[in-house]
Amino acid sequence: MSELQRDISSLPTSPNSRILAEYLAKNSPTFEWLEKVRKKGWNNPEGDRYWQNRREQSDTATEKAAQEFYEMTKQIALEMQAKTSALTPGDLGVQPFQVLDLCMAPGGFTWGTLEYNPNAIAYGITLPPDMGGYKNSFPLSAGYVKFLDITMLASEFGMGTIPTSHPDHSLFLAERPFVDQRFQLIFCGGAVLRGQERSEHRREFERTRLTTSQLILAMQRIIPGGTMVVLLRKPDAWDVVHLLHQFNSFANIQLFKSDKKHAVRSTFYLVAKDVQPEYESAISALEEWKKSWSHATFGGDEGTGEKDPEMDAEAVHKVLDDFGGNLLELAIPVWRIQGGALERQDFTKTRNDGRKKQHYWPDKRG
Ligand SMILES: C[S@@+](CC[C@H](N)C(=O)[O-])C[C@H]1O[C@@H](n2cnc3c(N)ncnc32)[C@H](O)[C@@H]1O
Repeated sequence: MSELQRDISSLPTSPNSRILAEYLAKNSPTFEWLEKVRKKGWNNPEGDRYWQNRREQSDTATEKAAQEFYEMTKQIALEMQAKTSALTPGDLGVQPFQVLDLCMAPGGFTWGTLEYNPNAIAYGITLPPDMGGYKNSFPLSAGYVKFLDITMLASEFGMGTIPTSHPDHSLFLAERPFVDQRFQLIFCGGAVLRGQERSEHRREFERTRLTTSQLILAMQRIIPGGTMVVLLRKPDAWDVVHLLHQFNSFANIQLFKSDKKHAVRSTFYLVAKDVQPEYESAISALEEWKKSWSHATFGGDEGTGEKDPEMDAEAVHKVLDDFGGNLLELAIPVWRIQGGALERQDFTKTRNDGRKKQHYWPDKRG
């Protein structure tokens, strides 16, 4: 199964994800329908060829492809603003209006923010292109953008001393970018890149490392009342439900998924407005993310990462009792967009004679 097929596949892999899957299947016909459509996508050879093609296309790092990708991120920014007003949180009584774009390149979100707030000052952090990061198509002046691997900011994440036995010991960073600044709007738009040069051990937990790194830095920079936008995948995955539940306790949350770009994928954005980083629940979420980054980076017998310990089943049931109704309301529009887009792909359709169609080329909307 390719990486992209895994994106839409959904076999529950842990006891907690099984509890969640049962809850969703029981309470949401939309989720049940999506599961069926997803299975058609990852369970058939035409789906295999489709995902392989997408992979080859996304591996083509030409100038033209980079420009098209930048245009796409600009379109997502415009659609996000139209649907959620995320890009205009206001100055919250603090001048000037500052935005921080984590994992910024190519820079569509920064472009969008400055379109709607021409006086805003933009800052960014992004992976250097010579380490496999995307090129910044919206270049900020030196000092406003830092080119570094955000997952290595150990001091920012509360880890002063790095075990000398760690194979990447010398690569961890003690700096704390923009530490004296506060921001009204912070994007956490990072996606783990196949083309990034990183040590062999940085595989299984890299997504956790990237998400927690961005969340920790963002929570330590956001102005009370500010907005955070976080790229996530699958509102039906247990770790994501847990994260949404946490955010719901210290922010007003919405979910946004573009119905034009990447609609077939499981990705979506959490838009958290009126974030209150000083609430007790926010402080404990921050502590948990730091522990999670540390587990994913230094845990296990080899000291190079392990999975977070499973939450006990009782706590999972409690989250679903408290938050299950909200979760369904938030997630159903996201599932509808993905399911509708998958259904429009030929590989999920069957011919009248019951045989699979021969065509697998995607339509333009995916
Ligand atoms: C989907 S793109 C972000 C697009 C961006 N939101 C925009 O509006 O243009 C993902 C970004 O994450 C960056 N990235 C991935 N891993 C990173 C890391 N470890 N540190 C910093 N940036 C990283 C990639 O280089 C890429 O720029």
